Amino acid sequence: MKVLITGSTGQLGSEMVKLFDDVVSSERKLLNLENPSKVYEILDRIKPAMIINCAAMTDVDACQTNRERAYNINAASPSVMATYAIKNNIRFIHFSTDFVFNGEAGNYSEDSVPDPINYYGMSKIMGDMAVESVPNHLIVRTSGVYGVKNNFPVVVYKRLRDGKEVRVIDSYYSPIHSKNLARAASELIKSNFSGRINISGERISRKDFALRIADFFRLDSSKIIESQEFSGQIARRPRDSSLNIDEARSVLKWDFYSVKANLSQMDVKNLSL
Ligand SMILES: NC(=O)c1ccc[n+]([C@@H]2O[C@H](COP(=O)([O-])OP(=O)(O)OC[C@H]3O[C@@H](n4cnc5c(N)ncnc54)[C@H](OP(=O)(O)O)[C@@H]3O)[C@@H](O)[C@H]2O)c1
Repeated sequence: MKVLITGSTGQLGSEMVKLFDDVVSSERKLLNLENPSKVYEILDRIKPAMIINCAAMTDVDACQTNRERAYNINAASPSVMATYAIKNNIRFIHFSTDFVFNGEAGNYSEDSVPDPINYYGMSKIMGDMAVESVPNHLIVRTSGVYGVKNNFPVVVYKRLRDGKEVRVIDSYYSPIHSKNLARAASELIKSNFSGRINISGERISRKDFALRIADFFRLDSSKIIESQEFSGQIARRPRDSSLNIDEARSVLKWDFYSVKANLSQMDVKNLSL
């Protein structure tokens, strides 16, 4: 079965392409999601039997300042892919974010009502809604994906390793390593699971996560300093965007969620400086 995997240069997509046979891995140069009007024609040339959309504009502040681009990549192009999937009767897999929630309650389940407080979350929920119109769809909602990019755990690790201070705000989320996310999602895809499901790590505050990183890699935790406000960020962030993963834990019978199971996937020797 020919599987189109978009975003194959990203954290999740680069892991996902390893888990399927007969993959057409699409980079931006093959299928640029900034041009939704071209997406249908390109899909019609590739003729995939299943689409796994791992591509997204994930820079939350850039989405806030360049809304048209965020809309095209996160909402309009997934909507065109959904139309293609409906017309050709194929399966469509899509990834959503904890940032569709306002962060006031936390522990969001599959049925919680979205209320985004930034444009990234807004653009992603518009994409989710289009994907839900595909009869054979799966939406995996996740949180704090980390891997090769310079995101929170990687920055914490590098700064502590280099003897630098780390400022953390006590906000909550559910971070997961891209390798565990890809494996968990691929298992659900291969078992024909459909609908919407949360797959993420366990709920943790960024401060506790930084302390766990220090402990796991035997680094000096005295450099971790709690800060009251997010600094240098343009878009608002939810205070507690953690996801409830009870359903995924009941379906998947392995530890994709614990902090330890995810930190142990970090390949710290091969991180760029
Ligand atoms: N990262 C997180 O913390 C997080 C949290 C919750 C949910 N998610 C969701 O999880 C999914 C995977 O995220 P990720 O962390 O793997 O993202 P990522 O590492 O930022 O990768 C994004 C991918 O999308 C591609 N892309 C961006 N703009 C494109 C365009 N115009 N045309 C075609 N491809 C384009 C990128 O290609 P280039 O290499 O060319 O830029 C890259 O391959 C996304 O749906 C995201 O919204 C992520």
